[in-house]
Amino acid sequence: MQYGYFDDERREYVITRPDTPYPWINYLGNEDFYGLFSNTSGGYCFYRDARMLRLTRYRYNNAPTDAGGRYFYLRDNGDVWTPSWMPMKSSLDRYECRHGMGYSRISSARNGLAFTQVSFVPLKDNCEIHKVTLTNESKTDKNIDMFSFIEFCLWNANDDMTNFQRNYSIGEVEIEGSRIYHKTEYRERRNHYAVWAVNVPVAGFDTDRQTFLGLYNGFDHPDTVFAGKANNSVASGWAPVGSHHIKVQLSPGESKALVFVLGYCENPEEEKWERPGVINKKPANALLEKYSTPEAADRALAALNDYWNNLLGRFTVDAEDKRMVRMAGVWNQYQCMVTFNMSRSASYFESGIGRGMGFRDSNQDLLGFVHLVPERARARILDIAATQFPDGSAYHQYQPLTRRGNNEVGSGFNDDPLWLICGAAAYIKETGDYSILDEKVPFDNKEELADTLFVHLKRSFDYTVTHLGPHGLPLIGRADWNDCLNLNCFSKTPGESFQTTANFESGVAESVLIAAIFVYTGPDYIEICRRTGRTQEAEHAEKAIAAMTGAINQYGWDGEWFLRAYDAHGKKIGSSECEDGQIFIESNGFAVMAGIGLEDGRGQKALDSVKERLDTKYGIVLLQPAYKEYHLELGEVSSYPPGYKENAGIFCHNNPWITIAETILGRGTRAFETYTKICPAYREDDSDLRRMEPYVYAQMVAGKDAPRFGEAKNSWLTGTAAWTFVSISQYILGVRPEFDGLLIDPCIPSTMKKYSVTRHFRGADYHITVDNSAGSEKGVKSITLDGKPLDGAVLPALGDGKTHKVVVIM
Ligand code: BGC
Ligand code: NOJ
Repeated sequence: MQYGYFDDERREYVITRPDTPYPWINYLGNEDFYGLFSNTSGGYCFYRDARMLRLTRYRYNNAPTDAGGRYFYLRDNGDVWTPSWMPMKSSLDRYECRHGMGYSRISSARNGLAFTQVSFVPLKDNCEIHKVTLTNESKTDKNIDMFSFIEFCLWNANDDMTNFQRNYSIGEVEIEGSRIYHKTEYRERRNHYAVWAVNVPVAGFDTDRQTFLGLYNGFDHPDTVFAGKANNSVASGWAPVGSHHIKVQLSPGESKALVFVLGYCENPEEEKWERPGVINKKPANALLEKYSTPEAADRALAALNDYWNNLLGRFTVDAEDKRMVRMAGVWNQYQCMVTFNMSRSASYFESGIGRGMGFRDSNQDLLGFVHLVPERARARILDIAATQFPDGSAYHQYQPLTRRGNNEVGSGFNDDPLWLICGAAAYIKETGDYSILDEKVPFDNKEELADTLFVHLKRSFDYTVTHLGPHGLPLIGRADWNDCLNLNCFSKTPGESFQTTANFESGVAESVLIAAIFVYTGPDYIEICRRTGRTQEAEHAEKAIAAMTGAINQYGWDGEWFLRAYDAHGKKIGSSECEDGQIFIESNGFAVMAGIGLEDGRGQKALDSVKERLDTKYGIVLLQPAYKEYHLELGEVSSYPPGYKENAGIFCHNNPWITIAETILGRGTRAFETYTKICPAYREDDSDLRRMEPYVYAQMVAGKDAPRFGEAKNSWLTGTAAWTFVSISQYILGVRPEFDGLLIDPCIPSTMKKYSVTRHFRGADYHITVDNSAGSEKGVKSITLDGKPLDGAVLPALGDGKTHKVVVIM
């Protein structure tokens, strides 16, 4: 069943009923201020850090689900309802939620009263704007009592949920007209407060939760709304909330628009107070002044639309297959921006409390957005590199606010360093900017240890070279890309985190995947060395890569596919000799991506084995057979029930590795098939089973061993976004940034007869049309650039601000 449809023209997903199988959310915000916004107006917002600076409360894992948000209650002639459906689950005569690029719009109606809420974070300000319009569609006058409602979080989301003995006594607010200020902890160590305001006079307000809701009531039955009168309660401790009571009179056909602003404000230490005990409201005044009319809100939304039009104009695609077009051209790139901003911190599956920016995650996310905001990618690379240890290893995560490595998780994931080379190479290929290599970047955030980014890359490279095991393959450390392959952990303690528990470095457990990643990124590293005159280093790297390739050939091949690893006892993982976990997806995809086994047919064999043993109708599972028991020597991977997560789930992140690998073999039909299987737009009408948003990728879809085979989880924050974008844009549609320019190298299904791509690249635009009337899968016959035949397949970087016509014949 479908719960909505794509409005391609407006780049919106239109949800047509509120009871989606899971809250279907959107992200508001681009730089510092973010909101998570569900199709029933649930969610929360924060300034920069979802843990330390959260403005509103959210309850994960709650019943009912998705409790808490920016709620509006309407009381129309005694009839009380919530126009976003939740929290009252009101029956509605009309409902629609449009999630667009950085904004959402909920429209509904009941008994002749229409409601629209447009919610977004404006480009440069730290606030959410909710423009609410009420329209009387009936034939009689209406006197409506409207109540807004948000619940303040006591800033630190972790303490907020745990430290009640303190929290119940610290909540403080100020009220001034239509503005409610949340100033908990402001008197002591905070210089910031929140404001929840509306641009019209109010009839009253409430700031104490219990007074507003009534004893033992939930959000679905606030006594105050039913009574039709606010209590003007002033919170003192307990749970501070913000509720405005607004009286709206509407004659038949009349509309009124109100602007609600939920903002974050900061004062310099010396200017904290207006007078003793009263916060300085200057920043709030300035902010609210700016958005004091519906027209001002509209202008801010228009500016946001321009911003996205601009960004998404950098890569567009047109083809017959509209599902691919809307994903590759719009939603996939949009999700890449969100993963760039959030890493794995704040979603409906990630609490925003625990996980900072991941070293490997952020480097991979970069592959999906470097073409959109290259300057921000540059800054991100330098931030990430600054957390690297002098020996080339890396903190697995760092905190975005402090930009410091996260000690709680620590280090020892031995794939981490290589992703820095991968990210930096992608940036240089996109921009041609080699100067990034000369930037001085600290190690371990210590200025005195700073050296150039190039030195960071070299240390990354050498870390692998100097951490080899008995077969000459890289030691895995805590884990490699697969966080759950914990070969040195042997955890027996319930509740212990597999990611942080002791790492009994065996000096034996090796990863074929890291070996393949090394061979894959190696050539980029060599190119970077050669192009910057570092010939000796290039030669050193060539030797190391040749040796690694040799080790994979000798010890990493199982006969029909590539092995996955050796455990701490030297036993094979991902081998036909194993009982469970005989074949894994990751090493097979990456080995072929690295070009291993291309001459002797092993590459093809490996991918055929993947297809035969791992493929399902919903995508390729991570391994087979699923582990039926917990294996002390394997760790978390065997802790999941069969078919979920890393234990034979369809872990979407690595499906595009197979897609890319298939294009390397030239099998365009198969490549496209693997692309579509995990692509959400192709499963839109299967939403009851898939459950997650049809416009974004999910980290995992339950595999064939799971009772809920086909059900997705962990939507939004996943490396799947970046890698699928790489697979479709660079390898299937075949427009790939290389050091010298844009390589044109499509690999498509023979049935795809034509398509076009526009690509912004190093200061010029290329309008590329591909003619495949020949029905081929790979291979370019001719290319013309602005009417002239091109020598080879690489479009030069023209950098002249013009649009160039490229015609490709396959
Ligand atoms: C999950 C992984 C995740 C890891 C780190 C594990 O429980 O299965 O997907 O990367 O936790 O948070
Ligand atoms: C999610 C993590 O964010 C990512 O770093 C990891 O590679 C995958 N899980 C696989 O375990």
